[in-house]
Amino acid sequence: MATALVPGSFDPVTFGHLDVIERVARFFDSVIVAVIRNPQKSASLFSLEEREAMLAEVTAHLGNIRIEYFAGLLVDFAKDHGADTIVKGLRAVTDFDYELQMAQMNQTLTGIDTFFLATSPQYSFLSSSLVREVARFGGDVSSLVPPQVAARLIQRFKEES
Ligand code: PNS
Repeated sequence: MATALVPGSFDPVTFGHLDVIERVARFFDSVIVAVIRNPQKSASLFSLEEREAMLAEVTAHLGNIRIEYFAGLLVDFAKDHGADTIVKGLRAVTDFDYELQMAQMNQTLTGIDTFFLATSPQYSFLSSSLVREVARFGGDVSSLVPPQVAARLIQRFKEES
């Protein structure tokens, strides 16, 4: 039984993430979507619980997905959860250097391999950080994130204003 691990910050989950998760779910028996507890970047907009809840809602139609969270090294989480491979979506060449470096570090640490999946072209510009920015200033994110996520973004920025 092959298990894939799809890690990320998911702050929030976008149609780009969902596209990758749905496609990975077709190739593996089971998929663990692993949400990092404390994203390194900026302070996260959504709490871990909110990010997990949104992921659970938007992947509810898929039967072989589990949402988990992790802290610390991804490779340790992979080993503890019996994941055979890490899968990452690649949007553009700008993702590649950093993703390659992480894949090689992870392979060096425990031997786990990373598969890269080309993002569907209609999502190659899409990132959670841009979605947050567009939503923060009242832009329409309905083509970028699932409706439940768009609703939470609107609510979050209403609370902040
Ligand atoms: O959605 P993101 O922010 O691009 O996801 C990055 C993530 C969470 C996949 C990456 O930062 C990660 O794996 N962090 C865990 C810490 C770790 O294992 N670091 C060593 C990687 S070489």
